[in-house]
Amino acid sequence: MTDEEFLLLNPGPVPVTAEVREAMDAPMVSHRSADFEAVYERAQDGLEYVFERSTLSGDATAAGGTALVLNGTATMGMEAAVANLVGESEEVVALVNGKFGRRFARIAERYARVRRVDVDWGGAFDLDAVADAITDDTALVTMVHNETSTGLLNPVPAVGDLADDHDARFVVDGVTSIGGDVFCIDDWNVDIAITDAQKALAAPPGLSAVYVTDRAREHIDGDRAPFYADLDWHLRKAGSHQTPFTSAVPLFRALAVAVEQIESEGMAERIARHRRQAAVFREGFAAMGLEGFPDAAGATVRSNTVTAMALPEGIRGDPDEFFDAVARRNVSISGGQAHLGGEIFRVSNMGHLADEQVLRGIRTVGEALVDAGVDADTEAGLGAARERLGVTEPVAEPDR
Ligand SMILES: Cc1ncc(COP(=O)(O)O)c(C=O)c1O
Repeated sequence: MTDEEFLLLNPGPVPVTAEVREAMDAPMVSHRSADFEAVYERAQDGLEYVFERSTLSGDATAAGGTALVLNGTATMGMEAAVANLVGESEEVVALVNGKFGRRFARIAERYARVRRVDVDWGGAFDLDAVADAITDDTALVTMVHNETSTGLLNPVPAVGDLADDHDARFVVDGVTSIGGDVFCIDDWNVDIAITDAQKALAAPPGLSAVYVTDRAREHIDGDRAPFYADLDWHLRKAGSHQTPFTSAVPLFRALAVAVEQIESEGMAERIARHRRQAAVFREGFAAMGLEGFPDAAGATVRSNTVTAMALPEGIRGDPDEFFDAVARRNVSISGGQAHLGGEIFRVSNMGHLADEQVLRGIRTVGEALVDAGVDADTEAGLGAARERLGVTEPVAEPDR
């Protein structure tokens, strides 16, 4: 039905550049070689740039910490952060308003006593309720910054202040914000931040990155963590750009290039681009007649990297025809997760999307909705999107 090339708009993995892909295609080296150490050092330097300078001004936001790369996706990073910081008699306050907040809570339940602050998925946290939950007995607070399952950006700065008031550690999942949106380690009192390679860093899946602040280091006890995720050990080895165990050499090479590309673009420019493209998605879909899914309210706002929209009533609960029509156009988007399956669809603008790819995403969704019998106004959606981009002519779109 289409000869347009494949466009991946899922909230991870996201497309990787040719240079990142090519970095994986090189002769193998030992993970104990000087070659590998040089690769890890490049990855660490690039990651430290991303973790420490994710501001609109490009100013530094962290004074001291170490970026580690783990052979495992962000779930491993989340588990490593929790397991190294708390023991079974300690209390973790876990904030849950989506699938990944729930994952953090479930991880914490394996290592400590957990007090959950639950909000309906897609709902906003009541900061008074969060303030009541965090007390002097709280050892650690877990929170997801950008809740990928609902397209919501949670109020990490406010919760960081609450954690700090009670001298609790604060571990933040920045999996779909770090590398695409503002993230301020020191100002937000974050002790350990976690991200994934295949999200806003735009590297292939398989690795995660954690930033361990010097503050957190004092509280780390690797003996109580899983052997493979002992952060003391990872930190010691990282000092000489080594990893404790055999590393996924091609993935490290790709990650090194990906973070260098981010540094070349500059975090301030990259954040501005992500914010612009997310607004284009939101405004384009709204002009088409769709409603945003999350009930963004108060301190919780809509994401700048993942857009979630409610499926229109006519296809809600039975959206297969719509998703098939999207796939026939050689575009990949995501549905809702867990109980949100059949309720919403989600698209990502993480990584290096060109504006014309965002427009193609909007056109594809509009046309696929019409194919599925929904009265969606594709042209109105594209018009609003072009207006947001400041493009008056439809020339930015690729040939169909
Ligand atoms: C916010 C968030 N946290 C954690 C994860 C877990 O990542 P993984 O499945 O790569 O371990 C994801 C994956 O989508 C995510 O979006």
